[in-house]
Amino acid sequence: MKYPSILLVLFSFFVVFTRESNSSETFTQCITSNSDPKHPISPAVFFAENPSYSSVLEANIRNLRFNTSDTPKPFLIIAAKHESHVQAGVTCDQRHNLQMKIRSGGHDYDGLSYVTYSGEPFFVLDMFNLRSVDVDVASKTAWVQTGAVLGEVYYHIWEKSNTLAYPAGICPTVGVGGHISGGGYSNMMRKHGLTVDNTIDARMVDVNGKFLDRKLMGEDHFWAINEGGGSFGVVLAYKINIIEVPENVTVFSISRTLEQNATKIVHRWQQVAPELTDELFLRLIIDVVNGTVSTQKTVRATFKAMFLGNTTTLLSILNRRSPELGLIRSDGTETSWIQSVLFWADMQMGSSEKLLLQRNQTVTYLKRKSDYVREPISRTGLESIWRKIPTMTFTPYGGVMDKIPSTATPFPHRAGNLWKIQYGSDWSEGRLTNRYMDLTRELYQFMTPFVSKNPRQTFPNYRDLDLGINSHNGKIMSYVEGKRYGYTYLLDLVAALRGAGASPN
Ligand SMILES: Cc1cc2nc3c(=O)[nH]c(=O)nc-3n(C[C@H](O)[C@H](O)[C@H](O)COP(=O)(O)OP(=O)(O)OC[C@H]3O[C@@H](n4cnc5c(N)ncnc54)[C@H](O)[C@@H]3O)c2cc1C
Ligand SMILES: *[C@@H]1O[C@H](CO)[C@@H](O)[C@H](O)[C@H]1NC(C)=O
Ligand SMILES: *[C@@H]1O[C@H](CO)[C@@H](O)[C@H](O)[C@H]1NC(C)=O
Ligand SMILES: *[C@@H]1O[C@H](CO)[C@@H](O)[C@H](O)[C@H]1NC(C)=O
Ligand SMILES: *[C@@H]1O[C@H](CO)[C@@H](O)[C@H](O)[C@H]1NC(C)=O
Ligand SMILES: *[C@@H]1O[C@H](CO)[C@@H](O)[C@H](O)[C@H]1NC(C)=O
Ligand SMILES: *[C@@H]1O[C@H](CO)[C@@H](O)[C@H](O)[C@H]1NC(C)=O
Repeated sequence: MKYPSILLVLFSFFVVFTRESNSSETFTQCITSNSDPKHPISPAVFFAENPSYSSVLEANIRNLRFNTSDTPKPFLIIAAKHESHVQAGVTCDQRHNLQMKIRSGGHDYDGLSYVTYSGEPFFVLDMFNLRSVDVDVASKTAWVQTGAVLGEVYYHIWEKSNTLAYPAGICPTVGVGGHISGGGYSNMMRKHGLTVDNTIDARMVDVNGKFLDRKLMGEDHFWAINEGGGSFGVVLAYKINIIEVPENVTVFSISRTLEQNATKIVHRWQQVAPELTDELFLRLIIDVVNGTVSTQKTVRATFKAMFLGNTTTLLSILNRRSPELGLIRSDGTETSWIQSVLFWADMQMGSSEKLLLQRNQTVTYLKRKSDYVREPISRTGLESIWRKIPTMTFTPYGGVMDKIPSTATPFPHRAGNLWKIQYGSDWSEGRLTNRYMDLTRELYQFMTPFVSKNPRQTFPNYRDLDLGINSHNGKIMSYVEGKRYGYTYLLDLVAALRGAGASPN
């Protein structure tokens, strides 16, 4: 592992040479004097002694692995209620040489938006109060503040029009702040690309506490902020493209066990799913049913589809391309796009769309890892994998993803990738943590021959600290600084760590 140490050296360099501290002034004095007096910061500040501290901290912890008594805790949370509070947080973070963690929806799989392991004192800049969504139907754009969750974005678009949508994540409680910059993907990605392909502008606070938008920051800097968030400042809001969808879309979810020829169907899926029409997204979820991994009864393959068209067309496509699936008309449901969001979120279709405004969700202990597959896996290979699995989700690529150049944005995984695998373990008790972490890592090890190589690639926004430290570990830097000290080189390293391989031209 030579990259992490090089990164560490580079980061220490930034830290030592760019920060000064003013020891006579307390941090509280600093944030008070640096925020707009018309919007006092004190109601937004939670020290550990504050009775609401724990509930504010825990409200956006989405992984119980980081809700233990051993988990390092921030000495302070600034739950910004006004843009000037963000500015004050950044300014005083720099002046007092602290670590600042930026949190929007808190869905980072390894908790990096609210935990740090350096042992240094840190505070959390929490964005959840800054969550307006302003939709402009005429220009088909919206300004969304980063503290909003995706469900709020979808709901407010739907309020204005039921044939407009935003192609972003499937889980409605994911936050805008971490998702949009990190190559967020949806069940319409084969037709409409990723979030980073649909971002038009951004408003941010840079390392010097200055407000910037795309024009002020310039195109290179704008390119770079789509690298996964947090390295070059705090994003306050994004201006996004919203897209047109048909009045009804078609969804289905069907399962096949090994006894129902799952291996054969999955084998075929590999050839079919990345090549289907762009309007069709056919995801595959593999899990064990009626047993545990060791006492496994059978393996189940669940095919979950999103089609931007009607059932008749969907049947004709799939019965031609994948007759083994045995799809019948009654498997499909035609519904509005917003109801399809509920379906994909495992909520009852027909329920109120208001469910999308709920920010709470059931939380478990979890670990996620990911891979890219570039060559279909043989039947024998699949059969060997069936003996190993926790849960795996196969997300097909192809469609427009093959057409967008890999350097158009910092998200490099475009043509040549057939699908992405997410390995997922969920458990309900802390004492099982080591066992499940080991199981997930073993599976990842086992999968080596089947996935991308040199470098082995990973989805940047499924944070996985097993792969090393990464770019936004609590220190933000200026884009100019980044460039001066070899930003391009640094970004290459970060990309290599994430198994990527792109750099700005
Ligand atoms: C249940 C679940 C389902 C998911 N489903 C999908 C999916 O369908 N598609 C998909 O693409 N991804 C999915 N993800 C991954 C998700 O997109 C990422 O974890 C994303 O980073 C979460 O964003 P957040 O704001 O909730 O996270 P946070 O934990 O708040 O932030 C993540 C990272 O971004 C930084 N950050 C946050 N806000 C800002 C800001 N305003 N400015 C600068 N940096 C910031 C944080 O410091 C941290 O490093 C899922 C994750 C979970 C837990
Ligand atoms: C997180 O930990 C706190 C403190 O132990 C506990 O009160 C809370 O219930 C935990 N949260 C969840 C969702 O289990
Ligand atoms: C599985 O495939 C075999 C051979 O192709 C076929 O005869 C059988 O009907 C299939 N089983 C199911 C449940 O579809
Ligand atoms: C699991 O077991 C239950 C009860 O025995 C049975 O009804 C169900 O069909 C089984 N599921 C699968 C997918 O085998
Ligand atoms: C389904 O969609 C196709 C293509 O848009 C259209 O030609 C056809 O009339 C539609 N069928 C039904 C039953 O709505
Ligand atoms: C959309 O589906 C609903 C039923 O869910 C139906 O009433 C409506 O006519 C459909 N609209 C179109 C344009 O097919
Ligand atoms: C979220 O909160 C709502 C309203 O308080 C409640 O009805 C719902 O059960 C909660 N959901 C979860 C998953 O905790």
